[in-house]
Amino acid sequence: MSAMEQAEKTCGEIERFYSEAETMIHRAKSSDEVEQIRVDFLGKKGKFSSILSRLKNFSNEERKLVGQTANQLKTRLEKNLEHRKSLLKEQELEESLLKDSMDASLPGVHFPQGALHPIRQALREAVRILELAGLKAAYGPEVEYEDYCFDRLNFKSGHPARDMQATFFVKSSQDQSLILRTHTSPVQVRVLMDLAKKDFPIPVRIQVPGRVYRVDDDRTHSPMFHQIEGLVVDQHSTMGDLRAVLDFFCRKFFGDKVKVRFRPSYFPFTEPSAEVDVSCVFCQGEGCKVCKQSGWLEIAGAGLVHPEVFRACGWDPQNVQGWAFGMGVERLAMLKMNVPDLRSFFENRIHFLKAEGGVQ
Ligand code: DAH
Repeated sequence: MSAMEQAEKTCGEIERFYSEAETMIHRAKSSDEVEQIRVDFLGKKGKFSSILSRLKNFSNEERKLVGQTANQLKTRLEKNLEHRKSLLKEQELEESLLKDSMDASLPGVHFPQGALHPIRQALREAVRILELAGLKAAYGPEVEYEDYCFDRLNFKSGHPARDMQATFFVKSSQDQSLILRTHTSPVQVRVLMDLAKKDFPIPVRIQVPGRVYRVDDDRTHSPMFHQIEGLVVDQHSTMGDLRAVLDFFCRKFFGDKVKVRFRPSYFPFTEPSAEVDVSCVFCQGEGCKVCKQSGWLEIAGAGLVHPEVFRACGWDPQNVQGWAFGMGVERLAMLKMNVPDLRSFFENRIHFLKAEGGVQ
């Protein structure tokens, strides 16, 4: 075979490789397959390279012929490979997007929405109603001087009423013991002492919502609970005004039909003192298990501010009169929401909270 024939044969070989590659490219189903074809034909150890390595055996003229053919077909092959590869890549991307895309017909994930705790709801409702009656919210610390919590409220030391409110002690000391406040009444002391420094501006009309603490834990008592205190001091403020405000409060809180009554009672810081009952919200006063057949439920203590309290806070009881009350918020909530066990409010069971509107 002459050198020229040899060269022509090589060109034929190159053309065959080319068409072989073309067929394979056409049949390839993935961009990876196309890449493999590129490596097999155009890679360092590929079919084209091995032919081109034979070029050195040809003379100039023949080398030109084979070289030209090889280069032309190589360029064409590269183009075709690239074109097919990008086409397949596009398809692959589309398929993967389809596979991973979201299905809008699937049911959504439900995130439960939080809401105010039932006690907080009752407290806010009570505060709102008392605001309508003209009482502005005032606050005091939960860690309180024993002096403010008891002594200045006319609980003499050794007074049995001190034991009625079993106390958590924070720091005992000879002159100023710190306790967790057992009621919101010490805020009366704080406000009155503060106003004594400001020339006794009257009228004083405050309410004190807040947490209180007692060593107590059963169906109707919890070691932490909430109270709302009311205090009005003016030149002439009477038991009648107190009664009117509590009537107003109970009707707004429990509904128009509720009745209110005062029973004589005793607190060291009021004289006279009363306990405040509402007609049983479960039996409308007929008599049932909850009200122990009495038709009435107790919700608050109240009375006229004791002269000793005024004196202990720097006020002259000759110049002013005042009335006050203290309500248990858990008690209000239990009655309004028909919850028989106070502890349900503190266990934070989701079913209970949902039923009482604490979680939506
Ligand atoms: N502080 C009392 C208690 O916790 C409730 C109370 C009674 C508050 C009479 C008052 C009041 O302001 O006048 O048992």
